[in-house]
Amino acid sequence: MHANLPLFASPLPATGTREELAPGAWVLRGFALDVAETLLAEIERVAAASPFRHLVTPGGQKMSVAMTNCGEVGWFSDRRGYRYTETDPLTGKPWPALPASFAKLARDAARAAGFDDYAPDVCLINRYEVGTRLTLHQDHDERDRRAAPIVSVSLGLPATFLFGGLARKEPQRRIPLVHGDVVAWGGPSRMRYHGVLPIKDGEHALTGSRRYNLTFRVAR
Ligand code: SIN
Ligand code: FE2
Repeated sequence: MHANLPLFASPLPATGTREELAPGAWVLRGFALDVAETLLAEIERVAAASPFRHLVTPGGQKMSVAMTNCGEVGWFSDRRGYRYTETDPLTGKPWPALPASFAKLARDAARAAGFDDYAPDVCLINRYEVGTRLTLHQDHDERDRRAAPIVSVSLGLPATFLFGGLARKEPQRRIPLVHGDVVAWGGPSRMRYHGVLPIKDGEHALTGSRRYNLTFRVAR
């Protein structure tokens, strides 16, 4: 019995465990695992209507992470600045609606992190190829910056998530995130700096050599 148990503990915490990073900030290990394939199928449907694209920052730099959105509004960036739009500037049509599976997962994860009745109006979808990264930033384009949490879902290739403080210069924790992990940060942690280190080469059974991230927010 138990002959196959590993001698040493896995370096990653087990699915189902919760880890508090800071007041109001939690990692929920494996929280999205059961619905991951549904989420990936929905990402494809959203992207068929509003394709992934590389946005340009106000400073004129093309972002290495490809993005699209679903929800009542979508996050967008170009030379004119960062903002939320009601229509996809690429298609001229409204952003695809938030799939029911997205809304339910976000709500359940927020509750597990201590935030009841979470009703995000936007899901930014990030697509990372190997080598791409997201530099340290705050999510500060939302009208509601205080109460509602950010809920962030990892799918596909693993990543190292940087989780810092309320000032850019504060040190950051390095959190390994794998397929199915969810991070939620709100309340006193809502404005914490965060980012993603360059994605390491690899292959995931469901996403190939990519990582996807869903970022839910209350924007308006
Ligand atoms: C984000 O900050 O928008 C994405 C974070 C992540 O990809 O884990
Ligand atoms: Fe962010």
